[in-house]
Amino acid sequence: MGKILVTGGVGYIGSHTVVDLIENGYEVISVDNLVNSKESALEGIERITGISIENYEVDLCDLNDLRQVFSEHPDISGVIHFAALKAVGESVEEPVLYFRNNVNGLINLVDCCIESNVKHFIFSSSCTVYGVVENLPCTEDSPIKPAESPYGRTKQISEMIIEDSFRNTDVKAILLRYFNPAGAHKSNLLGENPKKVALNLVPVITETALGLREKTVVFGDQFDTRDGSCVRDYIHVMDLADAHTKALQFLENSPEAKKLDSYNLGIGKGVTVLEAIKAFEKVTGQPLNYEIGPPRPGDVVAIYADHTKATKDLGWNPTRGIEEIMESAWKWANRKN
Ligand code: UD1
Repeated sequence: MGKILVTGGVGYIGSHTVVDLIENGYEVISVDNLVNSKESALEGIERITGISIENYEVDLCDLNDLRQVFSEHPDISGVIHFAALKAVGESVEEPVLYFRNNVNGLINLVDCCIESNVKHFIFSSSCTVYGVVENLPCTEDSPIKPAESPYGRTKQISEMIIEDSFRNTDVKAILLRYFNPAGAHKSNLLGENPKKVALNLVPVITETALGLREKTVVFGDQFDTRDGSCVRDYIHVMDLADAHTKALQFLENSPEAKKLDSYNLGIGKGVTVLEAIKAFEKVTGQPLNYEIGPPRPGDVVAIYADHTKATKDLGWNPTRGIEEIMESAWKWANRKN
């Protein structure tokens, strides 16, 4: 087994994946410029696995620094690329920042992978690449429609860059399209710990319950759904981490793995915003202060995954539902460390 380079290994999904990789026998190094992550995640990784990984505080946009990392580790066989900016609203405000960071960083990384004869590449993509999906559940064959935000466009463009750049090389790549990642590691030593303000539903709920926010605003309750609020597919971060290890093992061990393939990573069940709040209230035993507000511009009404392909090819069977997500997120929000 070669060494695995994880970009964004100190971040939310990256750190959980690093743990899962180590637990599956991989040697891992990380490249993370800590722009939206905190070094304490490295301690969390060490406390869970007993292994201290090296993080290079390098910006992927700096090609020379990145090349240096690859030259220090000529035995990198696989790369898992998480490092990117991911706030939809911020991307509307600062599109150039998003294109510069997410696209330039990827181009440099792809360049280094080709130069260094990396064999396997896994990309952290998003269901946002599908745009507005007409037929649910969403399969990998759903058409790629115009993205709703510059952030979504960076994911679409990145997928194209990966496809074109590796075409005439030996690199095999997998695009993993996440639905709504949430929850924390079962050890309570890792979880979402961003430097920027949390805007996603689950951290907004936990911050409200902690009194850090006055209330949670539900963005609309008059949509054509079970209870009028938006439907999403919340996927536990530990299930997501497991999918990355399985995707890597698939590329390494299965001759039938294609040059490029994509997989939807969601549990396959739609949960409304109001149901998510009820699940939180149930597992914590405390009422949440929420109110109904206007719809958020750019929000899709409903999206959830068909993950049959990931189950069939990768052997991925996500098991953790919304209650387990809320339970772990709440425990993490109340941590003492
Ligand atoms: C979006 C992106 C996703 C991206 C993620 C990263 C789309 C379709 N999805 O997910 O690709 O990876 O951001 O940040 O662009 N909600 C409230 N009140 C709140 C916050 C959210 O009601 O305070 C609702 C939203 O309307 C939505 C659901 O909760 O229905 C989830 O929202 P959020 O957690 O922000 O994620 P998405 O917008 O689905």
